[in-house]
Amino acid sequence: MTMIKVQDEWKSRAKIDAATYEEWYKRSMDDPEGFWKEHARRIDWIKEPTRIKSTDFTYPDVSIRWFEDGELNVCYNCVDRHLKDRGDQTAILWEADEPGNAQHISYKQLHEHVCKFANVLKELGVKKGDRVVIYLPMIPQAAYAMLACARIGAIHSVVFAGFSPQALRDRVNDSDAKLVITADHAPRGGRATPLKKNADKAFDGITGDVKCLVVKRTGDETPITEGRDFWLHEMEANVSNDCPCETMNAEDPLFVLYTSGSTGKPKGVVHTSGGYIVYTSMTHEYVFDYHDGDIYWCTADVGWITGHSYIVYGPLANGATTLVFESTPTYPDASRCWKVCEEHKVTQFYTAPTAIRALMGKGRKFVEDHDMSALKVLGTVGEPINPEAWNWYYNEVGQGRVPIVDTYWQTETGGIMITALPGATDLKPGSATKPFFGIRPVILDPQSGEVLEGNGVEGVIAIADSWPSQMRTVYRDHQRFANTYFQQYKGYYFTEDGARRDEDGYIWITGRVDDVINVSGHRMGTAEVESALVAHKAVSEAAVVGFSHDVKGQGIYCYVTLMEGTEPSDALRDELVSHVRSEIGPIAKPDAIQFAPDMPKTRSGKIMRRVLRKIAEDKLDELGDTSTLADPTVVDDLIENRQNKG
Ligand code: PRX
Repeated sequence: MTMIKVQDEWKSRAKIDAATYEEWYKRSMDDPEGFWKEHARRIDWIKEPTRIKSTDFTYPDVSIRWFEDGELNVCYNCVDRHLKDRGDQTAILWEADEPGNAQHISYKQLHEHVCKFANVLKELGVKKGDRVVIYLPMIPQAAYAMLACARIGAIHSVVFAGFSPQALRDRVNDSDAKLVITADHAPRGGRATPLKKNADKAFDGITGDVKCLVVKRTGDETPITEGRDFWLHEMEANVSNDCPCETMNAEDPLFVLYTSGSTGKPKGVVHTSGGYIVYTSMTHEYVFDYHDGDIYWCTADVGWITGHSYIVYGPLANGATTLVFESTPTYPDASRCWKVCEEHKVTQFYTAPTAIRALMGKGRKFVEDHDMSALKVLGTVGEPINPEAWNWYYNEVGQGRVPIVDTYWQTETGGIMITALPGATDLKPGSATKPFFGIRPVILDPQSGEVLEGNGVEGVIAIADSWPSQMRTVYRDHQRFANTYFQQYKGYYFTEDGARRDEDGYIWITGRVDDVINVSGHRMGTAEVESALVAHKAVSEAAVVGFSHDVKGQGIYCYVTLMEGTEPSDALRDELVSHVRSEIGPIAKPDAIQFAPDMPKTRSGKIMRRVLRKIAEDKLDELGDTSTLADPTVVDDLIENRQNKG
């Protein structure tokens, strides 16, 4: 296996070299209290914490608290504390959908925008502890809204603007939000989504007295409901630009973010203030080797955890310049990312393997001829990266002179857990490499739960002790939190990913071992797609599995049993595809729908998903033992009627 050694230039520039990594990592394992007490000082506390770590993974009484007697304000740390030394430096560099319309927002301007926004929230009756749903495209106001909530102690819940009205409604109701913040339209890739109209549809089924604050993005015609809807620009004209920061306890919730799991509805992942901001700012600085003056760009959307931790909170806590990108990597053509890197002299570029594969597929002509000499670190996140895409990223984008950090983490973990550090870690294409400070990964035998010690082992990956940005609970359902992550392997946080540790101690993530699939880096529960399908009147039963997809990583394959008397047809197939799109959103669009008169069920009535997965993958010689099925002949019909996967 190729090993790419740390180059001298990476080493000389980096804040952490190999010896420092070893030393700090050892300390973080031997003396977590001392280590985190010291590193918590990177944050400005109103009251510095004396109680550092109070964490217990014992099922069912799991409890996780960090810095619990500390007091701070996260917004202060991301905005106000930078005014003295870098008030005129760009905080947010906004690259709009249409090329050539970039805007620079300095820390001073950010402060003013956030204070006004916070005062508008107050005018609308939002108080400390209230929930605010943010349903916005990638515009600076998304960051202002998040920071304004943090400033006054409201808990935000960002809903990806690509989600459907139904998904928005569920999240507003589940979090019992007081306010939804949206925009008139959301331009992306040259087309505008009528976001406010989507929000209006969601409002049809929202229970309770919920108001709507609207950001004017395009100014195109938009319906407004008197008494419920308010324009941000109108309200901002009448509020002061001074708004004090609320004093928050370290364990006060900062935000809720919904994410998919194997079963049931998406879970509200709760992150709190102190531990989250300590850990995200620290990982942002060291993983991306961020230095003053760098221009850092993460292409994620603020609707996902990557956007929270590594577009907004981590970078801004470090006083960085963070690029907020409204468009897509292929608009107006596949050279967009490289043009933006050239124009803004981007130093760190962080994206997902699916984007790399899509751009690789367009050919080198879009990459070459762009001056990307400012680049110093490339990052990837969201799914395993195949060595071919890794090598393309390294050789074509980085010209073989820039390290790649493959960062493994999850919505639940708040920040990066396994990653290379640019000046410290020799690289292997496809491996996330080594744990960050404070992370104690273990590889477990999936059946026995035994820890597989040493190198050259494969199993599932769990984490043996807490770290500051770990999720604290599932919103209003602590039992579900304990059951989901701590029940199966006692004493560990279970990631639900498979992994191996190779002969050199490098970690390779092999993908989810539960019923979650990863489509273009978006995490999706197959159960969610199934429940959308069975909500259609023609469907009696549905089983959804993932299959390998060249660009998207995984695609969505659906087996559907129709109601008695309903005839299968191509028209019905199309209708089901658009039904799923409108129930969840375009990211959940099925790639294939196969009508299945019967499902392969065990005698106890459980669908044998393993068989369905293999059929969808065309791996017919790997079906395994099907003799325990109630009716093994079902399998022949399924094989015969396999669908083209587009
Ligand atoms: O399966 C792992 C995969 O993405 C899952 C987490 O998804 P989400 O909560 O949406 O967060 C994505 C961004 C942090 C994980 O359980 N995953 C994430 N990063 C990697 C990865 N798989 C392999 N390598 C990675 N670098």
